[in-house]
Amino acid sequence: MPATNRQLRLQSRPKGLLAPDDLQLVESPVLELKEGEALARVKYLSIDPTMRVWMAVDTYLPAVAIGEVMRALGLAEIVESRHAEFKKGDKVMGMTGLQDWVVIRAQEKMPFQKVPSIPFVSDTTFLGVLGITGLTACFGLTEIAKPQKGETLVVSAAAGATGSIAGQIGKIHGCRVVGIAGTDEKCKWLTDDLGFDAAINYKHPDWKEKLAAATPNGIDIDYENVGGEIMQEVLSRMNLFGRVALCGLISGYTKQDPGFANLGIVIVKRLRVQGFLIIDYVSRFMEGATQLGKWKMFGKLKDRETIVEGLGKAPDAINMLFSGGNTGKLIVKL
Ligand SMILES: NC(=O)c1ccc[n+]([C@@H]2O[C@H](COP(=O)([O-])OP(=O)(O)OC[C@H]3O[C@@H](n4cnc5c(N)ncnc54)[C@H](OP(=O)(O)O)[C@@H]3O)[C@@H](O)[C@H]2O)c1
Repeated sequence: MPATNRQLRLQSRPKGLLAPDDLQLVESPVLELKEGEALARVKYLSIDPTMRVWMAVDTYLPAVAIGEVMRALGLAEIVESRHAEFKKGDKVMGMTGLQDWVVIRAQEKMPFQKVPSIPFVSDTTFLGVLGITGLTACFGLTEIAKPQKGETLVVSAAAGATGSIAGQIGKIHGCRVVGIAGTDEKCKWLTDDLGFDAAINYKHPDWKEKLAAATPNGIDIDYENVGGEIMQEVLSRMNLFGRVALCGLISGYTKQDPGFANLGIVIVKRLRVQGFLIIDYVSRFMEGATQLGKWKMFGKLKDRETIVEGLGKAPDAINMLFSGGNTGKLIVKL
């Protein structure tokens, strides 16, 4: 048993990007395990845009309380167990929080799941393409947008964890896929490695013209991760009866979202805009992960990870999501 646990606790609600003191690194004692509990060492933390939202407001989950360990999805290894379901050495995934050690209790509101050991599949894959990220892309695209062969799909934040998988699933379904991302290098990865038909760097002044040139037949599906000006521009190029899978609005997470200037376009173009949350698909996770696993095994899905080392770097890592510092899935390794 370790004597102490390092934890990042929420000290203040961030305004804009995280400030150095918003999360405070504290040491607290690791208590003796009670019957029904297991102690696990956290190995990897999934760094997700929704964490910034959890720090600020109640949404689909209550905001993290001031003083509480910051909520985060993580992958951990059981080191001692008095829990009926887990034994020493098991790898598990769940809401570990930003800390070195987690005590897993029998009656967790969000139960931990065992992570399978599969040859040639790294543990971090279960936080990325075979985890929540891949599942979000998979269900968001196939269930909400329902892509058809020959349609044009535009994905924003396309070189990120969710967008890079959503775009490739669009290719699997026979779509023309155009990604929008924040650097030329990311755009090159999308077209040269992932098989996107085109990729537009939205930081170039002529990106709107380039988007128009890359979507000569208009846009049938918007897989929207960003919102704001990007979404506005994409919607202006949508075809009649186009579909918008509203996955996220990251451009508004660190600042007041200015709202949508021309919502009338949804009427004029008869668009179907549907938001979704991956937690609605919990009962189908195994089905989705099996499909993603097959695509990955047959080389139809490629994934990339950006790994940041050390618990103390987690606040910087969260900020990287908003500055575009990551390509693919962002993970903190402990
Ligand atoms: N609905 C759900 O259940 C669900 C589940 C998971 C994730 N999501 C949403 O999916 C989106 C992507 O999440 P993720 O975990 O895959 O993160 P991610 O895409 O790996 O990382 C975020 C990326 O967004 C881009 N970005 C940040 N601020 C931007 C801005 N103002 N304008 C344009 N691009 C910006 C950055 O790339 P650039 O370099 O390209 O700017 C950054 O790398 C988020 O909106 C998230 O909230 C939703």
